[in-house]
Amino acid sequence: MLSSLRALKRDLAAIATTLGASRPSPVVQTTRPVPARAHRRLRVASIVRETADAVTLVLEDPAGAPIRFSPGQFFTLVVPLEGEVIKRAYSASSSAADGQRVAVTIKRTPDGRVSKYLVEKARAGDSFEVLGPSGSFTPVPATHERLLVLVGGGSGITPLLSITRTLLATEPATRIALVYGNRAREDVIFWDALESLATTHGPRFRIRHVLEQPSAGWADPAGRLDGEALARELDALGEPDGPTTDYFLCGPEPMMRAARACLEGRGVAAARVHQESFAAAHASAASAPTSPQLVTVLIRGDQKQFVVAPPRTVLETALDAGIDMPFSCTVGGCGTCRVRLVEGHVAMEEPNCLTADERTQGYVLACVARPASPCTFEVP
Ligand SMILES: Cc1cc2nc3c(=O)[nH]c(=O)nc-3n(C[C@H](O)[C@H](O)[C@H](O)COP(=O)(O)OP(=O)(O)OC[C@H]3O[C@@H](n4cnc5c(N)ncnc54)[C@H](O)[C@@H]3O)c2cc1C
Ligand code: FES
Repeated sequence: MLSSLRALKRDLAAIATTLGASRPSPVVQTTRPVPARAHRRLRVASIVRETADAVTLVLEDPAGAPIRFSPGQFFTLVVPLEGEVIKRAYSASSSAADGQRVAVTIKRTPDGRVSKYLVEKARAGDSFEVLGPSGSFTPVPATHERLLVLVGGGSGITPLLSITRTLLATEPATRIALVYGNRAREDVIFWDALESLATTHGPRFRIRHVLEQPSAGWADPAGRLDGEALARELDALGEPDGPTTDYFLCGPEPMMRAARACLEGRGVAAARVHQESFAAAHASAASAPTSPQLVTVLIRGDQKQFVVAPPRTVLETALDAGIDMPFSCTVGGCGTCRVRLVEGHVAMEEPNCLTADERTQGYVLACVARPASPCTFEVP
């Protein structure tokens, strides 16, 4: 319900923007998650090495079809690796105004299977099955004057850069301030791209780097980007918070927790604080069901039954059985596959995007749910 309300709100805002704007933007899309049939194969057109640990893959449709997304959304890459097919979400880092290509930027995670593979082995000419776009970490399009404050850490810069690139190009009345925390200068992904945007767009885009381990001669802020550091940076911006200021946070969980607490302490309404979490859902071996279970799905007045065998999820098995269940990201990140558990028990991969309210109301995510007993689900 919450996500459909959010999607409705965005759609209405987008329509209002289009009706009210003298020059409607052809680019910034509404962000209702793209429904199930959005698989496509995209080819790596080129690769940019951003830092020792991060690469950008520029993806294109081999047939030249457009690639549409809203700034801040992510795509799910399906990567065949060591006999397995693994899915991982990666946010677009390029401008949604491009239309023909999308760039995703991957930072190698310590012991991470897919990120290590992509950073070390991906080559131009490779192709991947891709799902999406997904996600609602995207500003409502606007024509009025407003300020977006973006707070990022490490690879969390990716959706923030897409937002920055897109809105600087399409929304003349939007100003953006970015506070970006990293360990050291050499870890900063997109240093040059950010400097270039700041030079081109002058006062409309300001950036503050906060480095934990700066080298000698660093004159800007040093230390961890915690609540105190963020408060100092917000003061330095000299922009009073107001009803048209929105905050977008993406980075390590402790950084986002500190940022939320800092903003709350400054009286910023929670509705104006948006965050994207890169924490991926993982099946816990301890709670993973071990025996096949009968599942009943109530969908559009119809009743379907199938057996889910471990380690498959409810969504995977339903789609194999030809049942038209809604989905988009397949990694617990977008909420499109939300269903109500009417009867039975499931083990779900955590963390995922379900809210506490949704859990209380009995919702589960079919893409990361494995039945631990016979189950009945209702598709809303
Ligand atoms: C919406 C979204 C957007 C994202 N966007 C980006 C992006 O733009 N750029 C980017 O670089 N990343 C992004 N990510 C993160 C990305 O999807 C992957 O999670 C990341 O690349 C790590 O995947 P991996 O296969 O390399 O690591 P994995 O092999 O999955 O392991 C990752 C880490 O988790 C630990 N781990 C493995 N299994 C478990 C387990 N069962 N329980 C607990 N911990 C475990 C590992 O030890 C390792 O440290 C995004 C994630 C989400 C959800
Ligand atoms: S498909 Fe996105 S959460 Fe399940």
